[in-house]
Amino acid sequence: MQKIIILDFGSQTTQLIGRRLRELDTFCEILPYNKFPKDDPDVIGVILSGSPYSVYDPEAFQCDLSGIRGRLPILGICYGAQYMSHIWGGKVEPAGSREYGRQNLTRVEAGCPLFKNIEKDAQVWMSHGDTITRIPEGARVVASTATVENAAYELSDRLWGVQFHPEVFHSLCGTQLLRNFVVDICGSRQEWSAANFVETTVQELKQQIGDDRVILGLSGGVDSSVAAVLLNRAIGKRLTCIFVDHGMLRKNEFTNVMRDYECLGLNVIGVDASEKFFRDLEGVTEPEKKRKIIGRDFVEVFNAEAKKITDAKWLAQGTIYPDRIESLNITGKVIKSHHNVGGLPEEMHLSLCEPLKWLFKDEVRRVGRQLGIPEHLIGRHPFPGPGLAVRILGAITPEKVRVLQEADDIFIQALRDWKTDDGDILYNKIWQAGAILLSDVRSVGVMGDERTYENPVALRAVTSTDAMTADWAHLPYELMAQVSTDIINKVKGVNRVCYDISSKPPSTIEWE
Ligand code: XMP
Repeated sequence: MQKIIILDFGSQTTQLIGRRLRELDTFCEILPYNKFPKDDPDVIGVILSGSPYSVYDPEAFQCDLSGIRGRLPILGICYGAQYMSHIWGGKVEPAGSREYGRQNLTRVEAGCPLFKNIEKDAQVWMSHGDTITRIPEGARVVASTATVENAAYELSDRLWGVQFHPEVFHSLCGTQLLRNFVVDICGSRQEWSAANFVETTVQELKQQIGDDRVILGLSGGVDSSVAAVLLNRAIGKRLTCIFVDHGMLRKNEFTNVMRDYECLGLNVIGVDASEKFFRDLEGVTEPEKKRKIIGRDFVEVFNAEAKKITDAKWLAQGTIYPDRIESLNITGKVIKSHHNVGGLPEEMHLSLCEPLKWLFKDEVRRVGRQLGIPEHLIGRHPFPGPGLAVRILGAITPEKVRVLQEADDIFIQALRDWKTDDGDILYNKIWQAGAILLSDVRSVGVMGDERTYENPVALRAVTSTDAMTADWAHLPYELMAQVSTDIINKVKGVNRVCYDISSKPPSTIEWE
């Protein structure tokens, strides 16, 4: 399949470039700045991202573009544009005043293919401390703003640099500019579609795996389910899935999800290991310690099962692109910790297979629908690996888990039952929702003539596109009133319900 390579120089908006390209139905791979694939005939163009560095910083990222220039079209964005100027005879200097935010183009060169259908006055988004004071040798300026003369330049061998960020929402002409580059200049056939992805990935998996056997850890979530169904299409019963119940899943989740998996024709081993997890978590209150114990126990249980499949050669995972941000983040700044389950011991010599590693969440869902996975599995909210353990503040007991499962189930069911104006259900409008048990806090209530002294439950519902940032969902008051009444009336041990109105950042989605 045709692809554009985005060389990542560490900008926070590199991912967004990828997203915009996929919106143009064009496949792309984001690779570290110095890892351009030499002999990939499918590459039709290259984009150089922005960077937190100045080209003059001693630690600034450098790459060798000599093998690309003249062979493939290149678009340098911000640092990418500055870097090309810097190495090809131009000059980059600190801007007199740092140039951030909205600007309008004051001049656009007629006839420049990159600016086709982009008017003078188009709004762009600047975010740079350095500016290009001299464009590369042989280049011509193709766009300017009131303060940035060299806002975009063109070199004869299908090479462009833009100082602004076409990938961000506020560059209103950005999609058109990227379309001009990707479709007109690079010649994308815009062939990325879920159907196409399924077809090519199944073929690739068949080739990659041959007659080998594969093990896959299922979590009940959409990513691992889609990975499993894809692999099942490619290799059938040579895929063995393992689904570990740590005892802190949602109400009836283990049974329901096992049934779904069996309906999908997957070869699944379900392991109820809840006793071990509860035993090892006894008295533990510190969130990171909980996570570590659960992670360790999970690996132990998973490995014990996996070892029984003695001829397995591959470990498959439902890793998706955002999960890999940390490992791909070449500046070394941790944005989000990698949440996927731990690996197997090295002596098992399993190779890793991650068929969804280039996809964003919404694309995984598109692929899942294409594979015929039922909507209630595809549309499921993300759920943390450690499950309700990180939603019980304080030590975990089976009884607290039961209380939280009941409250959570009432809340989630209410979101599923609530119809929105467009005929959808409210659950589908929300990125993630759940209940949190404040098990170390007790407050006074009155039920009938009795005084109660019980725990509060907090409800959390957020909107988001990738869990990196999130806002609290503005739920209808009537829904909240009904959920609160139901929880307090039906869940013994809870006498108060609160709603979490914090956004991320500064708060995280999970309480622990
Ligand atoms: P936070 O709480 O960091 O969560 O805003 C972001 C997203 O990650 C999920 N999450 C986890 N997933 N193991 C996981 O598999 C974890 O330890 C974990 N912690 C948070 C969270 O549910 C949200 O979708």
